Amino acid sequence: MEVRVGEATLELCQGDITLQQVDSIVNAANSRLAGGGGVDGAIHRRGGPAIMQETDARYTQGCPTGSAVISTAGNLPARYVIHAVGPVWSGGQRGEAEQLAGAYRRSLELAVEHDCQSIALPALSTGAYRYPMDQAARMALSTAVEFLKTHGRPKLVRFVLFDAAAHGAFTAALESLAEEFRL
Ligand code: APR
Repeated sequence: MEVRVGEATLELCQGDITLQQVDSIVNAANSRLAGGGGVDGAIHRRGGPAIMQETDARYTQGCPTGSAVISTAGNLPARYVIHAVGPVWSGGQRGEAEQLAGAYRRSLELAVEHDCQSIALPALSTGAYRYPMDQAARMALSTAVEFLKTHGRPKLVRFVLFDAAAHGAFTAALESLAEEFRL
């Protein structure tokens, strides 16, 4: 599914984020930038050790939850990896929604600051961090729509969902947002 937001395109696909031919891809990182499984494991495996070497050298304090930092992308097809730190779900009353929105917003800002025309993002926090998929989908997409309405860039924002369940949840959320925002 895809929608237009002004001059930009917001689209959903099912697949592996490490294979995306876009200017920047977003990693589902932790605040120590220490690597892990899921998206993080796949990015460092396919991208090679240069990515971790760079983040270790540039971001010695790591990255706070709800924010993101950027590095080059090693052997990946993308130019940059944006390491976003979503919240661990702990019931929804501990600022998780604001932190998830913040991680997406900062990722999009970094892409624009680095002149990226296109960005691919995963469903942050919905794996090891256990954020409920339906709520995460709505927050992810509404943050991207608001950002594109304000900034008009990046020209292509692609959410890459790993399995059919995630893709279904994002499709339902985008259909309802498209109606609300008249996209
Ligand atoms: N491409 C796209 N999506 C993927 C991929 C992939 N290659 N691998 C996993 N996913 C999906 C998962 O199915 C899930 O829906 O990405 C979503 C996020 O899952 P995680 O990668 O577990 O990220 P998160 O929940 O944010 O947890 C972050 O996990 O790997 C560690 O170091 C990481 O500590 C951090 C934590």
